[in-house]
Amino acid sequence: MCGIMGYTGVEEAAPVLMDGLEALEYRGYDSAGLAVCTEGGSIIHIRAAGRIMNLADKLIQAAHEEVPVTGSCGIAHTRWATHGAPTEENAHPHRSATGLYTIVHNGIIENYEALRDSLEAEGIEFESETDTEVIAQLLEKHDTGDVLETLRTVLPLLEGSYALGILYYNAPGKIYCARKSSPLLIAKTKDGAYLASDAAALLKYSREILRLEDGEVAELEGGKVSVYAADGTPVRKVPIAVASHISAADKSGYTHFMRKEIDEQPEAVRRTLASFPGQFTPQTQQLLKDVRRVVFLGCGSAYYAGLVGRYLVEEGAGIPASAELASEFKALNPAIDDRTLLIVISQSGETADTLSALRFAKQKRARTLGIVNVEGSTIAQECDAVIYTKAGLEVAVATTKAYATQLSIIYCLAAALQGDYILIRKGVPVGGIVKQSDIHRLPDLIGEVLRRSAQPMFEWARAIHRAEHCYFLGRNIDYAAALEGSLKLKEISYIHAEAYPAGELKHGTISLVEEGTPIISVCCRPEVTPKTRSNMEECAARGAALYCITNDNSITVKNKLLLPRCNPLLAVSLSTIPLQLLAYHCAEMRGCAIDKPRNLAKSVTVE
Ligand code: F6R
Repeated sequence: MCGIMGYTGVEEAAPVLMDGLEALEYRGYDSAGLAVCTEGGSIIHIRAAGRIMNLADKLIQAAHEEVPVTGSCGIAHTRWATHGAPTEENAHPHRSATGLYTIVHNGIIENYEALRDSLEAEGIEFESETDTEVIAQLLEKHDTGDVLETLRTVLPLLEGSYALGILYYNAPGKIYCARKSSPLLIAKTKDGAYLASDAAALLKYSREILRLEDGEVAELEGGKVSVYAADGTPVRKVPIAVASHISAADKSGYTHFMRKEIDEQPEAVRRTLASFPGQFTPQTQQLLKDVRRVVFLGCGSAYYAGLVGRYLVEEGAGIPASAELASEFKALNPAIDDRTLLIVISQSGETADTLSALRFAKQKRARTLGIVNVEGSTIAQECDAVIYTKAGLEVAVATTKAYATQLSIIYCLAAALQGDYILIRKGVPVGGIVKQSDIHRLPDLIGEVLRRSAQPMFEWARAIHRAEHCYFLGRNIDYAAALEGSLKLKEISYIHAEAYPAGELKHGTISLVEEGTPIISVCCRPEVTPKTRSNMEECAARGAALYCITNDNSITVKNKLLLPRCNPLLAVSLSTIPLQLLAYHCAEMRGCAIDKPRNLAKSVTVE
C-alpha cells in the first residue's frame, strides 16, 4: 500500500528519495511524488500518476526546463488510491494553502469530511479529493511557528490512522514526522537521517532502525533525530537491529521476485523450524495452557493458513478451534474470553483489519499469540507473545514463502497443543497426529516437490492459461490448500478462480462446469479422497478437464502430480507449492505484472 520515504543530510535528496520509492514499489501503488527543499529556499514538489518511472521522467523534464530538483532534504510517497482517483492532483505530497506545510501521509483520516467541511466553510480551498490534504490545511491553520507545538494541537483532531512526513517552509533541512496505527521507521548515519514506512527502503543505509510508536513525533535534521512523546517530553529510542537474514530486494537473476521466493521456501521453512524451540518461550507456553478455544485470525492467505491450523488443532488436540477472517471478526461479536487463544497470523504485521481485530480481542481479555514475519511490526508488538516466521523480506505481492513459514509454525503449535510443551521446546519428538519428526522433514519435502512440479506445472499452465474460469476442489484440510491455490491464480493471472469443498459443487456451482472447464483437485487426506474422486468424476461427466495434486498413486487422472509420501496432514504444505507454480506460469503466459498485480498492495494498512 502507500509508501513514505524521507531524507535529510548532505547528499542530493532526489536520488535518495527515488531509490527509496523503488524499494517500496513492491507494496503496490498507483501514483508517486516527492518534494525537496531547494537551496533557493523554496519547496519544489513534483508528482505523477502511474509508475515511478513517470515521476523520474518529470524530474528529467524539470532539469531540462532549468528548475532542477536540487537540495538535500525531502520527502516522497507512493500512493495507493483510497479517497479520490489515482491522478496527479491526488498524488502526495500535498501542500497547505500558502505552501507553509508539505506532507506525505499513509493511512486514512476517518473524520476528514467533517474536517474538510469546516475548513471550506472558513474559505480554505482544496486542490485534491484526498483525506490527506485536510492535515496540511489544519497544520497551516493552527501554525504557531513551532511545528512540534502545532502538531500537538492538530494530531488530536485526526481520527483514523496516519504515518506522516512533513516539510515546513520556515525550517528547510528539517523533516517532522508522526504516527498512529501506521508504521514509520527512522535510520541514522553520521551525516544523514532517513525516514520510511518500511525497512526495505532503509536497509541500504543502516541495519539499525528506530521505530516510532503510536503518538510519538520526531524531528530529523542531518544526522540528528529527536523523538518526543505526545505531550512533548523527549523520548530516548533504542535502535532495533534488522535481522541479518533479511536482505534488500534483489532478484538474483530471477525474472520475478515471486519465482525467486517460491524457490526460497525450503530454506525459509528450515530457518523458521530451527528457530521455533528458542522462540517457544515459557511465556508462550503459558498462553497455550488450559485453553478452551483456539481462534486463528488473518486475512487472505494468512486466513487460509489459519484454516489449516483450525483442522489440526480441533482434530489433533480436541480443542474447539475456528479460523476467522479478521475483517469480519468484530462484527461477529465472538464469544471469547481469557481462556481463548487467539493466534494472529500476518506476514507484514501491519494489516489494518487484523490489527483492529486483535485490539478488539484484547479488550475481551483473550490471550494473543502472533505469527508474524516482520520483526518489530505493530501486530508483533501488540500480541502477548510472538513467534516470528523467518521468511526474510517478501517482495512479491502474492505471498509464497511467508505462507509456507506460517504453516510450519502452525504445525509446531498444533503439535504443542496436543503434546508435551517441554519436550517440544527441547526439540524432542512427541506423539499425536502431527509429530515433530514429520514437521522437520518439511524443508526437504518442499524441495522435492519444487523439483517434481517444475515441468508439469508449466505444461498445465499451457493448457489452462486461456481459461476464463477455473475451480479448485478439496475436502477437509485439502480444501484449505484449494483456497490458497485459487487465490494465487486469480490474484496474479486474473483468471476467475474459486475454491469449493468438493462436496459443495453439486449444490449449485456445478451448473457452471462445461466442456473444458479446468477443475483442479487436491486429494491428500485418504479419509476423504474417495469422495473427492467421485466429485471429480461428476465434473468430468460434464466435460471438465481434470487436474489432480495428490499423494495417492491409485488416482488415474491423466493430469496428476504425485506428491512425496508424508503425513497427509502436512501434505497441505506441499500441495500449495505446485499451485503457486501453476499460478505463476499462467500469469507469465498471460503477460501479467506478476510481482505487482493490479489494484493489490503488499501491506494493506486500511480497513
Ligand atoms: C495473497 C496475499 C494476501 C495476504 C493478506 C494478509 O497472496 O498475500 O492475501 O496474505 O493481505 O497480509 P498479511 O499477512 O501481511 O497480514
